[in-house]
Amino acid sequence: MVGMTRIDKNPRTGGNAVEVRGLVKHYGETKALDGVDLDVREGTVLGVLGPNGAGKTTLVRCLSTLIMPDAGHATVAGYDVVKQPRQLRRVIGLTGQYASVDEKLSGWENLYMIGRLLDLPRKTARTRADELLERFSLTDAARKAAMNYSGGMRRRLDLAASMIGSPDVLYLDEPTTGLDPRTRNEVWDEVQRMVAEGATVLLTTQYMEEAEQLADELTVIDKGKIIANGGVDELKAKVGGRTLQIRPTDPAQLPAMVQALAEAGLDGVAGSQAVPDEGMLYVPILSDDQLTAVIGLFAGRGLSIAHIATALPSLDEVFLAITGEKTTTSVTDTIPEEVAA
Ligand SMILES: Nc1ncnc2c1ncn2[C@@H]1O[C@H](COP(=O)(O)OP(=O)(O)OP(=O)(O)O)[C@@H](O)[C@H]1O
Ligand SMILES: [Mg+2]
Repeated sequence: MVGMTRIDKNPRTGGNAVEVRGLVKHYGETKALDGVDLDVREGTVLGVLGPNGAGKTTLVRCLSTLIMPDAGHATVAGYDVVKQPRQLRRVIGLTGQYASVDEKLSGWENLYMIGRLLDLPRKTARTRADELLERFSLTDAARKAAMNYSGGMRRRLDLAASMIGSPDVLYLDEPTTGLDPRTRNEVWDEVQRMVAEGATVLLTTQYMEEAEQLADELTVIDKGKIIANGGVDELKAKVGGRTLQIRPTDPAQLPAMVQALAEAGLDGVAGSQAVPDEGMLYVPILSDDQLTAVIGLFAGRGLSIAHIATALPSLDEVFLAITGEKTTTSVTDTIPEEVAA
């Protein structure tokens, strides 16, 4: 894009809402961003997956004009982050990694104040605050001071705050880190709703499951460098997708199960693995259809299953698969495995 021209917000054009080329940012000796390239197509969600210190927040801060890059180029909705910061700020929303609400103000006051800071007329700011509180199920708590909100309520207030100006492009920096699974699901629902309404989202996360839930495409970042990118399925295929964990009722049937999978061509990308000591069978799968097929196959052959679950690869496993080395910082706060049946 050239000069002041803005790209049309029309998902059918398939244009990029965010374009980043060769972005570099140093903090003293630390190269927080070391030549980052990425695109976020309009109306889609890009998940930026990376461990602690990878450069995720630095990227978000550059793209929201809070800090200046040292080198490289980035545009958001056609506006240059360095040359057109004022125009750019008008089309973005940001939910930072750490809650940015004013503790002493009520939920309503927080939203109204942000609306006024964004130059909305009083009446519009009021209506917008009411609407968003309703939408994020905070109407009952609207008059309570934010310091009395639970973690999940704060996150929802944060998300609502980033939506006040009806942004075209929304940055969510680790929106669910530290939240319990129920609240995490609530936040995911809200993000999905924003996207359904046409927002373009750049989401940073340390959770493969979050990326899988929300992102159309994924970029994996480590030590300021992009180390992989592509569609979620593509990346999952690279790391072997989910693993189906099966405990047969009778451990003696493990070999029969392995044989059945091989005959049906269902032993997945990385091959299924029986671990007799644990009485378990592990089958890498890439889709729900594959999961269903495996269960159907065993049912058809009278191979009875006592327990079944699926597990997503952890960020550590994703890194191991991509780079062949472990992450420098390990993520301890992993999402509990999802129970499939
Ligand atoms: N203001 C700062 N001053 C000095 N160094 C910084 C500053 N902000 C970030 N860094 C360093 O830059 C690197 C990237 O940090 P950044 O916060 O972008 O990572 P992150 O991916 O957001 O990590 P996390 O998952 O922990 O939030 C780290 O090595 C960090 O220590
Ligand atoms: Mg961060």
